[in-house]
Amino acid sequence: MNTTDFSLSRQRLMKAMLPNSIAIVPAASLVSRSRDTEYPFRQDSYFQYLTGFPEPEAYLVLSNDCEYKDGLSVLFCLDKDPLQEVWHGRRYGPKQAKKQFAIDMAFALDELDDKLLDLVDGHKHLYFAQGHNTQADELVFDVMQALRNAAKQSKQAPATIVDIRLILDEMRLIKSDAEIQVMRQAAAIACQAHIRAMKFSEAGKNEYHLEAEIHHEFAMQGARHPAYGTIVGSGDNACILHYTENNQTLTDGDLVLIDAGCELQGYAADITRTFPVSGTFSEEQKQLYNLVLKAQLKAFRAFKANNTIKQASDLAIEVITQGLIDFGILRGELADNIEQLTYREFYMHGLSHWLGLDVHDVGHYKIDDEDRPLKAGMVLTVEPGVYIAPDANVDIKWRGIGIRIEDNLLITESGYENLTQAAPKTVSEIESIMRRGI
Ligand code: GLY
Ligand code: MN
Ligand code: MN
Repeated sequence: MNTTDFSLSRQRLMKAMLPNSIAIVPAASLVSRSRDTEYPFRQDSYFQYLTGFPEPEAYLVLSNDCEYKDGLSVLFCLDKDPLQEVWHGRRYGPKQAKKQFAIDMAFALDELDDKLLDLVDGHKHLYFAQGHNTQADELVFDVMQALRNAAKQSKQAPATIVDIRLILDEMRLIKSDAEIQVMRQAAAIACQAHIRAMKFSEAGKNEYHLEAEIHHEFAMQGARHPAYGTIVGSGDNACILHYTENNQTLTDGDLVLIDAGCELQGYAADITRTFPVSGTFSEEQKQLYNLVLKAQLKAFRAFKANNTIKQASDLAIEVITQGLIDFGILRGELADNIEQLTYREFYMHGLSHWLGLDVHDVGHYKIDDEDRPLKAGMVLTVEPGVYIAPDANVDIKWRGIGIRIEDNLLITESGYENLTQAAPKTVSEIESIMRRGI
């Protein structure tokens, strides 16, 4: 992604806003982890989408007032400060930021209160994401109040506040070619990380050792951070959907479920693979694994433009439910089980979610209460699973097996592109890569 891509996003937003509108978009702030140490900084996804500017404590202000031909982009950011920069790192400062990020005007954050009043004054509409950032909520409230209170000085507050997410979420849902390039790269790196974990796995190591291998590969390939908390759940832990402890010893005979994806230039990969700790599936593990895989591959067929996620999800549910009946885990007829949602004891989450700057990315799943048709440029996950709890009322041989297989698809005009194809997925692919070792 380069400055032209971000500039293009700003232009598109300004074109989509009602005439004579102004938008305010805050950057993320640093978040305290303990006393005076902070979590690694992560830029706000909307701000990232519109600027690519990597610093905290900044604001983007956009106006499509007709006095500016192509709209006006203004950035407020932390000023240069040699002492602060010695302690906390380099800053662009307004002058450099304006140049490097192709912004029309840039000012120090100290000037925000004064300048914002003048910028907002006279616009009819204010585009803003209320409730998204507490500091920004206060700022916007104060600016609106100050303008209303200055009516005698001919100041005029916008008459309406419009939710900027209505436009931005739809824009973000359809990825540009530049975004797709980055997401392909993120997916490729994450695939390599899963392969690395498979090769490294053996009984006696700990779940966090596999986590370390995954993160090592991310960083070695230029993606320093995971896009979400890495899940490494072996044995029964695979049945806890958002397991985060990652601190149990790997046991021979168990499966291990790894849900991990890196973040690259803000964009997420989100892959799950499940494989045997020691490289060979038991008969029951293989049966359940192949069932989940069959469900995923069947669902894949429905992923094309104009179909819906629901169509794909229904296919996955049908395959999984029939399989569970065949294995004696569920009883009765397929249709009754589906109607009564009995499968939910063993497959309790959705099939897909949008993927992008956020791992559970923005964008409505329904339009006017109808499942929305898929369109080229959407990126989503396909992640069926089967989880047999250790205390489930089923034959003991199935208990404590948790399996999820998750890939990332780009919807294309003719179908889909599987961005995460390179992560081994069939029983034989997994067993063979694990046999070969490092
Ligand atoms: N890693 C989160 C998810 O699969 O939705
Ligand atoms: Mn996912
Ligand atoms: Mn996942």
